[in-house]
Amino acid sequence: MLYDYKNMHISTAELRALRSRLNDAKKKVLKMARKGEQGWLDLPDDKDMVERVYEIASEKKKFKNCLVIGIGGSDLGARALNKAVRTKNGMKLFFAGGNTDPDELHATLSGLDLKKTLVNIISKSGNTIEPMAAFMIVREALKRKVGRKYGRNIVATTDIKGGSLRELAKKYCWATLPVPENVGGRFSVLSEVGLFPAACAGIDLDLLLRGAQKVRNAFVKELPLKNDACLFAALQYLSYKKHGKKMQVLMPYAEGLRDFGLWYRQLWAESLGKDGKGPTPIAAIGATDQHSQIQLYNDGPNDKTITFIEVKKFEHQTRVPSMADLPKLGYAEGKTLEQIIHAERRGTARALTENSRSNGTLFISRLNEENMGALIMFFEIATAISGELYGINTYDQPGVEAGKIAIENILK
Ligand code: PA5
Repeated sequence: MLYDYKNMHISTAELRALRSRLNDAKKKVLKMARKGEQGWLDLPDDKDMVERVYEIASEKKKFKNCLVIGIGGSDLGARALNKAVRTKNGMKLFFAGGNTDPDELHATLSGLDLKKTLVNIISKSGNTIEPMAAFMIVREALKRKVGRKYGRNIVATTDIKGGSLRELAKKYCWATLPVPENVGGRFSVLSEVGLFPAACAGIDLDLLLRGAQKVRNAFVKELPLKNDACLFAALQYLSYKKHGKKMQVLMPYAEGLRDFGLWYRQLWAESLGKDGKGPTPIAAIGATDQHSQIQLYNDGPNDKTITFIEVKKFEHQTRVPSMADLPKLGYAEGKTLEQIIHAERRGTARALTENSRSNGTLFISRLNEENMGALIMFFEIATAISGELYGINTYDQPGVEAGKIAIENILK
């Protein structure tokens, strides 16, 4: 992975002035990991976890589908992996619980043969209304379709000690996986939360974690001003603080990264939006949003940074055939769609740069497990470092909790 940030319009002097705060931020992040207060940084080394996940995935391999029920951090990571990595073997993943829209759940259930469907309910707390309500509805449907032994179709991923889901799973002897106590929802994709659905889908967990491990090791070893994840955090922070860039867009040029943008949006928003501070993350997608958002980014208020992700090599080299019938578009003849999508990103970056709009690009070689692991760890580190720079608690979410309490009171 490579990060090109020359068009971010942040001077070397500005970056150097942040050096000691970046060093402190890194020390704090590493100290939290060392003391076991935060476990996400060490997940790539956890071989027992991988074994646990594969053991249950293999016990359940007769199922054709896996219906994943979760919300927020218990949902978005698995979706991102499932969309990005195409596999040949494995179950087809479906998702529910990320919303309480009754029509959506009805449509999902109508299209599923529940006898052939494994249900992975994921909730760290075990008490979140959206996924738990959906799960109880799905469980009733399972009882009806599968009968007495419906519990074989369930794997519950939840806190090891408590919560309603843990109690229910214990009571009915369902298979369970733990959510590490020291890993928060939005940092949990590389734990059992994201790994079990990924394993069911046929994603290679060792490669995924190897990619994450490489980025983590580079972070531990390199000086912050030489480390891309720390630099990303520093550049976004300086852009926000000193240059009025209150919005931070992630715009991958790859359909497979569409859901990754949503994962980033939650990670950045829930972690950094605190105490009246915090950048607003935006998930865009290239080339599609060139015809939707770029007008605003290029010509509207100059209050955004844009980070592109370019996938250097796509799987298919589909070529545009003869354009003899479309002479005005003849310049595309013989070009591959890959060449076109790269030109689109480059052209957009050039136009933004000419208009003094801050932008940077992350390059990955291919859309595969290793690079997904790398991207995930890159953004998790960048988020943790940013939290230290903003001086907030990256890992809590009082704004979300307040909403949960209000909803409970209304429904009561
Ligand atoms: O990142 C977070 O902590 C949240 O988005 C949670 O993941 C989300 O609220 C779901 O919580 P739970 O897994 O307890 O159901």
